[in-house]
Amino acid sequence: MRIVLTGGAGFIGSNMCRTLLSRGHEVIVFDNLLTGSRRNIGNLLTEGGFTFVEHDVAEPFDVDGPVDRVMHLASPASPADFGRLSLEIMAVGSNGTRNGLELARAKGARFFLASTSEVYGDPALHPQPESYFGNVNPVGPRGVYDESKRFAEALTFAYHRRYGVDIRVARIFNCYGPQMRVDDGRAITNFLWQALSGKPLTIYGTGMQTRSFCFVDDEVEGLLALMECDHTGPMNIGSTFEHTLNDLAEIVLNVTGSDSPIEFMPLPQDDPAQRCPDLTLARSVLGWEPTVLLEEGVARTAAYFETLLDSQ
Ligand SMILES: NC(=O)c1ccc[n+]([C@@H]2O[C@H](COP(=O)([O-])OP(=O)(O)OC[C@H]3O[C@@H](n4cnc5c(N)ncnc54)[C@H](O)[C@@H]3O)[C@@H](O)[C@H]2O)c1
Repeated sequence: MRIVLTGGAGFIGSNMCRTLLSRGHEVIVFDNLLTGSRRNIGNLLTEGGFTFVEHDVAEPFDVDGPVDRVMHLASPASPADFGRLSLEIMAVGSNGTRNGLELARAKGARFFLASTSEVYGDPALHPQPESYFGNVNPVGPRGVYDESKRFAEALTFAYHRRYGVDIRVARIFNCYGPQMRVDDGRAITNFLWQALSGKPLTIYGTGMQTRSFCFVDDEVEGLLALMECDHTGPMNIGSTFEHTLNDLAEIVLNVTGSDSPIEFMPLPQDDPAQRCPDLTLARSVLGWEPTVLLEEGVARTAAYFETLLDSQ
């Protein structure tokens, strides 16, 4: 297939590119490198079937020739960027999604939206099924991201209903692995970078809040299974293995052999206490679920971070 992928120089996008190319697809990436990097796709640039276009997808974009899939992954995703890149997040969630949908409509391609578990906000229901409407504070610091993804989902379904665009909507839960930005502010990257550089591990709050972490190889498999199935979604794609942040910190210390101490800091506003997907739909429709255990995934991510430290 010929696949247009926005956000292909980012963490999930670059892992997605590698898998798509290994399956013989042609991939055309549009990315403005806002939070992604050329390093993530460096070794793909010389491969046949891969094209990189530096472009802000909040501005219209087009490609010559047929397109089978438009995958819209472009968006800053790290809570650390919600303040710094608030308007850029809203632009790529609104105009960027619309431009991707217009391209899919013009080419008769299937449109795939990378949405997020953040549409559930600080959930009052646990675990979260796709039918849960969420508990989002629209004017809080996370509102820019949560609401732009909620808008993107609504827009995608509007194109489906109005124009018959074939759509798939994935709700991605916390994902981690190689090609993550070291300074993205998420717990796994913070802990790994702190442990590897001998600094204290910072836990916000008591560390008893739980998260489910999905290794990127599992995530990419789930997203591609959704893209090629007959269900529009929205569908949760993530891991149900729940860990407290305290557990995660211990795993990072064990895997890296670091003796960094742990420091506790005040919890940021609207930080969800617990988030975990209900995977009933993904299991029944896709027959998919994650397989990589957190210890193994953290070890593989640590190995990637070590190569970055070595190259500094
Ligand atoms: N990583 C996660 O745990 C997670 C969880 C839920 C949802 N998601 C979603 O998955 C997608 C990928 O996330 P990620 O973790 O790989 O983030 P990332 O920041 O590593 O990648 C996003 C990519 O989009 C690009 N981008 C941003 N705005 C753009 C624009 N206007 N035009 C062109 N390119 C633009 C960035 O440069 C970057 O390469 C995002 O849509 C995110 O919301 C990720």
